[in-house]
Amino acid sequence: LVSEIRLRQVLDSRGNRTVEADVVTESGGFGRAAAPSGASTGEYEAIELDPSEAIASAREHAVPRLEGKVFVGDQRDVDRTLRAADGTDDFSEIGANSAVAISMAASKAAADVTGAPLYQHLGGAFRGEEFPTPLGNVIGGGEHAADATAIQEFLAVPVGAPSVQDAVFANAAVHQEVHDLLAERDIAAGKGDEGAWAPSIEDDEAFELMAEATDAVADEVGFDIKFGLDVAGAEMYDEDDEEYVYRETTRSTDEQIEYIADLVEEYELAYVEDPLDEDDYSGFAELTEKVGDRTLVCGDDLFVTNVERLATGIEQGAGNSILVKPNQIGTLSDAVDAVELAVENGYEPVISHRSGETEDTTIAHLAVATGAPYIKTGAVGGERTAKLNELIRIEQNVSRL
Ligand code: PGA
Ligand code: ZN
Repeated sequence: LVSEIRLRQVLDSRGNRTVEADVVTESGGFGRAAAPSGASTGEYEAIELDPSEAIASAREHAVPRLEGKVFVGDQRDVDRTLRAADGTDDFSEIGANSAVAISMAASKAAADVTGAPLYQHLGGAFRGEEFPTPLGNVIGGGEHAADATAIQEFLAVPVGAPSVQDAVFANAAVHQEVHDLLAERDIAAGKGDEGAWAPSIEDDEAFELMAEATDAVADEVGFDIKFGLDVAGAEMYDEDDEEYVYRETTRSTDEQIEYIADLVEEYELAYVEDPLDEDDYSGFAELTEKVGDRTLVCGDDLFVTNVERLATGIEQGAGNSILVKPNQIGTLSDAVDAVELAVENGYEPVISHRSGETEDTTIAHLAVATGAPYIKTGAVGGERTAKLNELIRIEQNVSRL
């Protein structure tokens, strides 16, 4: 039984304030979690409020309905109560940032009470034994860095890695290799919000660098490393002119679909996220028809972890993969529902961080608990390695059980 919920503001990786929740139970269980925050947020995401407003509103509406009334072991009840307390369908009353922090903290308190690791508590006795392949952001721009690539993320995908640990190390090695290649070409580069290199280069050059870096590291480690993209098409799309705006060119929707399909061919891309605008189900469907047998076509801003939007996508054949961000929808139960609907329909779930993150490691546990085939949580940097290192620990822990 929840005995106390404490809410506070803490810092995220961009230096912005975010909501952290502690959940304490009558039996002495304790859980703590913090909300992440996006920069290239989808139009249909649950609403993130100013953290001080989110906390004030959650204290008024949600905390009294939870304290002394709800058991942390019943995650569905915790999350239903958060929804009922909020009363809107997008968490615009208490804020998805308050909701997700409380939801995740409650799950950790429940795990603490049972003494099970969080992945085991969330996944249950019949949890699968698959570990997620980490997608590592190594070059990026878009909304995550000024004057860098137009495409938001170039991600290493270590498809042949024999273990999570090998995969995590490989992604970091690709990140390092890209640095060396940039230095060879005398290209200066700082880092974007997720720790990816953010050089002022055309996307064409980033493709060359990724191909060279993944090949070089693959040779070194002895397994296959591919790469992929988060185009973040909604950020690039100019609705008035109906075109995708790159650094030195623009593309109509048809040209964009052609362009992405050509890139999938040329670079054997393993992954393409948000290639098109967040309203363009039919464009997603057309691209999926073309290349869906060869690559993952993943909806992030398109689906926003929302089962209704995913159902629309399934109906239309839009994409074959969904990005799952608990804070996009507001609770762990909703995120798990999205994973389940995806899996039932042959869509690959990719559990994901946000560009603004904290040391919180819940998504690493969620990925293992749900048997998700992929996790996207960066390649380097403390708030990213918090999750990656947790995955390495979980892998070791599981193989010892
Ligand atoms: P965001 O970016 O967290 O800034 O939305 C991540 C993504 O688009 O996948
Ligand atoms: Zn995205």
